[in-house]
Formats: sequence, C-alpha cells, structure tokens
Amino acid sequence: MSADDQKRISGEAAAQLVEAGMVVGLGTGSTAAWFVKALAARQLDIRGVPTSEATANLARELGIPLAALDDVKSIDLTVDGADEVGPGLSLIKGGGAALLREKLVWEASKRCVVIADAAKKVDALGKFPLPIEVVRFGHVHTGHRLADIAAEFDLLPPRLRMADRGIVVTDGGNVIYDLPSGVIAEPAALGAALKTVTGVVDHGLFLDLADEALLGTDQGVVKLVP
Ligand code: 5RP
Repeated sequence: MSADDQKRISGEAAAQLVEAGMVVGLGTGSTAAWFVKALAARQLDIRGVPTSEATANLARELGIPLAALDDVKSIDLTVDGADEVGPGLSLIKGGGAALLREKLVWEASKRCVVIADAAKKVDALGKFPLPIEVVRFGHVHTGHRLADIAAEFDLLPPRLRMADRGIVVTDGGNVIYDLPSGVIAEPAALGAALKTVTGVVDHGLFLDLADEALLGTDQGVVKLVP
C-alpha cells in the first residue's frame, strides 16, 4: 500500500468517529485532507474549526460549515496529521507551517486524534527537523538565540524555512525555523527552553495532547494510545 493510501485509510477511519452535532477541529496537511474529504462525504450536521487557510478552503469547497475558534466554546474532537509520532504519542508537527493554529485548536479540544501513515511512527522524536514559529520582527536575532539553545541540547543550529518564492510565511504572518536534530533526547525540556525566547510564538512539539493515533498500515488501521 502506498503512503498516500495509508494516509487515506487513517483519515477515513477518523471520519467515522465524528457524530452529528459535534464541533470538529480540522487539521492541516495531506492526511488531514483525506479526513476532511471523508467527513464531507458523510454529510453530517457538524461545524468544523479549521487549523489553516488551506484547510478552510478545502472544507468550504466540500460544503463543510465552518466556525472560527473564538465562535465555539470548545471543540468535541480534533483530527490532525503529524510529521512524527513518538513514544507516548509525543508528536512533531508543523511540517505544513500550521503548528500555531493547530496547537491552539488541539488545546481547545476535548479529544485529539492523530492520523498518519505507518512511516511516521518513530522510536524517538527528532529525525524530522523540529519547526519553530517565530515572529518576523528581528527573526534573525531570534534565530541566533535559538542556535544557542540548540547548542545547549547538542543540536545543530536551526534553519529559516524557505520556499521557491522566498521565506515561508505562516497564516499568522510569522516565519518558521526548522531545528535539525537526529534525536531529541529531552522533548519537554527542549520545548520549555524554546518558549523562553521572546520571539518564539510556539514550536511543533505536541506533548501529552494526543488521546489516540490511527495509523494507516499495510495491515489496515492500527489504533495507538499513549
Ligand atoms: C501541518 C502539520 C501536518 O499535520 C504534518 O506536516 C503532516 O502532514 P502530512 O499529513 O501531509 O504528512 O503538522 O503543520
């Protein structure tokens, strides 16, 4: 089975968790897009809270009614992808530059389900460079401070994320620094250290947030719990 098929079956399985009347957090990325498509096909009476402009556009095209995060009291269920799924369902997210809105939506949710293809499951976080969202003003200086923190954790300096058209700018108008590591030995300590830097808005370590994972594998969808 291709990675995309694994993403599709995990997204389709997650769509079955949604019930009429729910407020549903809609994740970002190619796996989350499969979820959004499968959810739209069910034509349930729900409201979706998108985690990015890209997801909002997809949901609108498919006819899913949307609400802004501030228009709902809480979210019943959020379904979203991940770049890595590590021990205890610790996650790296933000490969799609949506980590800030994603984390805000996850933290407002009663239940968070991560969906992914089998290759995303890792024994230790860190092979995927850790995305860090940084305010644009003075971001080069912030990048130097991040390099100091990286050195304290024996990690390489972070790199400003670029695309063909120049610097990648998030939906919130910020930039992304990606921190290559190999292995993040102490995710909680690293996350806390990154948050001490004034220019850092947030980072892609999602710790103690996922309630379950639905992993698409060649043998079908496998459910993981922390
Ligand atoms: C976006 C994310 C995505 O969930 C993550 O990058 C996984 O993407 P994909 O499902 O395309 O592999 O965190 O910010």
